[in-house]
Amino acid sequence: MKSIQILDAKHHVGETVQIGAWIANKRSSGKIAFLQLRDGTAYFQGIVVKSEVGEDVFQLAKNLSQETAVLITGEIREDSRSKFGYEIGISGIEVVGESHDYPITPKEHGTDFLMDHRHLWLRSSKQHAIMQVRSEIIRATYEFFNQNGFIKIDPPILTGSAPEGTTDLFETNYFDQKAYLSQSGQLYMEAAAMAFGKVFSFGPTFRAEKSKTRRHLIEFWMIEPEMAFMHQEESLEVQEQYVAFLVQSVLDNCDYALDVLGRDREVLQKYTKLPFPRISYDDAVELLQKNGFDDIQWGDDFGSPHETFIANSFDQPVFILNYPKAIKPFYMKPHPTREDVVICADMIAPEGYGEIIGGSERAIDHEYVLEQIKAHGLDENEYSWYLDLRKYGSVPHTGFGLGLERTVTWLSGIEHVRESIPFPRLLNRIYP
Ligand code: 4AD
Ligand code: MG
Repeated sequence: MKSIQILDAKHHVGETVQIGAWIANKRSSGKIAFLQLRDGTAYFQGIVVKSEVGEDVFQLAKNLSQETAVLITGEIREDSRSKFGYEIGISGIEVVGESHDYPITPKEHGTDFLMDHRHLWLRSSKQHAIMQVRSEIIRATYEFFNQNGFIKIDPPILTGSAPEGTTDLFETNYFDQKAYLSQSGQLYMEAAAMAFGKVFSFGPTFRAEKSKTRRHLIEFWMIEPEMAFMHQEESLEVQEQYVAFLVQSVLDNCDYALDVLGRDREVLQKYTKLPFPRISYDDAVELLQKNGFDDIQWGDDFGSPHETFIANSFDQPVFILNYPKAIKPFYMKPHPTREDVVICADMIAPEGYGEIIGGSERAIDHEYVLEQIKAHGLDENEYSWYLDLRKYGSVPHTGFGLGLERTVTWLSGIEHVRESIPFPRLLNRIYP
């Protein structure tokens, strides 16, 4: 007999097959039992009719408790009443793994309880849908960069440098030396761009940030493209094309997940329209001040209420251009005619999801970069390899970093970034 997965049921109508699954839910009467089956690819219904299977199998079905693992035998049928469209008429059930008193029941549970049971919570249909969106974004990322002539480069996780400032580094021992978990692969990606032209990385990054917001993780995944012989305006075009491609890929390939999440497709469709609007940092400050944000002065970084207000003034993702030099990292290219700002952009997602991309053109003058390294209190010896890039064929180059989890959170339309990663590391949580 053929073993199949639920998602492939449509190719097996009329056949008797075997499926390994878990019992997600169940209801029964005296004569018929409905088992909600889950195998990781999809959910569908199994029907057990007492008069067809006999007393023993029917009693077994009636007594199956939540999350029992079973091998189901039966015939695949069309089912016009369910959205999935197929069901299985069960003839045999073999229990593979028992489950008693499963802690997550169909009733409402508090977030702390669910987070403590994250290893089990992942089995729920909403979490399943979010992980499908995440997986699609990962797949589409590789497709986009491979199609556009980028090569995938893996920067190290254990590093001696601090691209995004020294305050939020995880320090560890590297034999008799100090090392840090990577905050960003960017500096290494700059070296890679000088070697290979257009490169992208995709890996975990770490920020020992004492932030407890719905947008912050301690460990998150970042996609960091870096492009040689390229200025900022062209990078913004790559960024908006990439993000629009991700949105379209989720629309095309996550139908079932979008239904489970109740995500409005028309809203998402708007985010595939190019170009995305651009507003300067200066104009953004003015916009905020005109609209009653008296707390913001030129020179301040934006907090989430500010970002949300700016985003709500547009109905696509928006780029905020050229922030004050004083609040940005050492490596950004100075503005050609202004002392006080650098050539950079953050992309702010709509609907209050905040910054999803940070990027910039890079400073390429050796003397300027050295001076900035010193001014930021960094040890120039640890950056001498980085300074070499400004000595041997230094060229204009630009790059950006997209936060995977913020993007998953936004496209899934969920409240908090903690549900966008299988096992979130948060300020007060490293379990499970
Ligand atoms: O703006 P960030 O800090 O930029 C960089 O690290 C650059 N070196 C990237 C580059 O130019 N190659 O981070 C980039 C993105 C943010 O826009 C956000 O989406 C995400 O990474 N991010 C976080 N996501 C979750 N939790 C956190 N604590 C995050 N910090 C940044
Ligand atoms: Mg940033």
